[in-house]
Amino acid sequence: MTKSGHDILKDRLRRAMGIDLQTVGHNSLRNAVARRMRVLGIKETRQYYELTERRAAELDELIDEVAVNETWFFRDDTPFTVLQRYSRNWLKRGRGSCLRILSVPCASGEEPYSIAIALLEAGVNGPLFKIDAIDISYRALRLARRGIYGRNSFRGRNNFFQRKYFQKTKAGYVIAKHIKHSVNFIRANILAANLPILNSRYDIIFCRNLLIYLDKDNQKVVVSILDKLLVDEGLIFTGHAEPGAFADSVFIPAPYPKAFALTRRSAVVCKPDRVSYNRQILPPSLPVQPLWFTELDTARELADTGQHEEAMECCEQYIRRHGPDKEAYFLMGMILTDMDEPRLAIRMLKKVVYLDPNLVKAIEMLALLYKGLGDDNNYRVFKQRAGRVAARNQPAGKGSE
Ligand SMILES: C[S@@+](CC[C@H](N)C(=O)[O-])C[C@H]1O[C@@H](n2cnc3c(N)ncnc32)[C@H](O)[C@@H]1O
Repeated sequence: MTKSGHDILKDRLRRAMGIDLQTVGHNSLRNAVARRMRVLGIKETRQYYELTERRAAELDELIDEVAVNETWFFRDDTPFTVLQRYSRNWLKRGRGSCLRILSVPCASGEEPYSIAIALLEAGVNGPLFKIDAIDISYRALRLARRGIYGRNSFRGRNNFFQRKYFQKTKAGYVIAKHIKHSVNFIRANILAANLPILNSRYDIIFCRNLLIYLDKDNQKVVVSILDKLLVDEGLIFTGHAEPGAFADSVFIPAPYPKAFALTRRSAVVCKPDRVSYNRQILPPSLPVQPLWFTELDTARELADTGQHEEAMECCEQYIRRHGPDKEAYFLMGMILTDMDEPRLAIRMLKKVVYLDPNLVKAIEMLALLYKGLGDDNNYRVFKQRAGRVAARNQPAGKGSE
């Protein structure tokens, strides 16, 4: 192929699918063209190049060759856990409508089918959700509609769902019919002006591992399309290397570590199920907005399930966003206590007392931590201080009852 022919073809592919061919490797296009030429029995690269100009179907074949269809069930885990939390809450809010989800790109179907399974496992039944799944690759969509998978599609740590939702056959693992029928597959280019779903709105969009293959301009176009497709309070899940593509957009990271989720700056995110880590003794200092979901809510949940480091990360994120906060420091103090880090816990609790010298519970905790360290002196100091503050805090007249 002449240099110019190769470059023009690169350009056509870039326009056809937005892909920056450098991201998929220098030789990917040459190899893809060579494969197609072998199939068609064409010897001259120039001849092949002319064919792609004349026949749109051939360009689609080339797209199939170039597309990176790498995917597997429950890829990255956490997004699906967050999806389940979100959808349970959505159910509780009783919107009386259907939870609308988009998976773009869906490749060979593992992602949208994982979404369906996650929803069913969360108690959101078939009629309550609708999943659209889009990909540009005909080949990938054929596999998705077929719904038969090999081992490579089950690369996650926990394949609990395999027995329940697949039947093992000689051909591979066949997905259960009700899962298969719960996904509506559509062949489309997300960048196309006539994108068939442009008038739809989704509560949740999975757009993972596409943006990394696009050039900057096309990344921006996709982000603005996602903005059009997402409802105000919606969530977008991206791939782990992709949140950067949303910088300078209307989206900001949602408060879920490792989910790579984004929400609108102005959005409200559903509050999760109530959790028991409310060993928190502070009176609520946040305004009561039952629909809001903050990093501290997530931190409590994570701490409750023993994910202490992630919980600490959430508290730090909350402080970065909102400034020094006694509730966040208090929670960090409790988490550090659970992590058997009494000295660090003391540092956090001293910050709480600095911000609010009347918080008896924090002072009492400090006393207990010093006692645990065998520091009787400080134990006495804080114990007495707790007593004084408690007496001062008592409503007038209560002491004489
Ligand atoms: C790596 S897969 C990602 C699949 C899945 N979202 C995941 O994260 O596991 C990338 C997919 O993007 C599709 N794709 C590339 N450009 C596209 C475009 N412009 N519109 C729609 N799909 C596209 C490819 O066909 C391929 O199946």
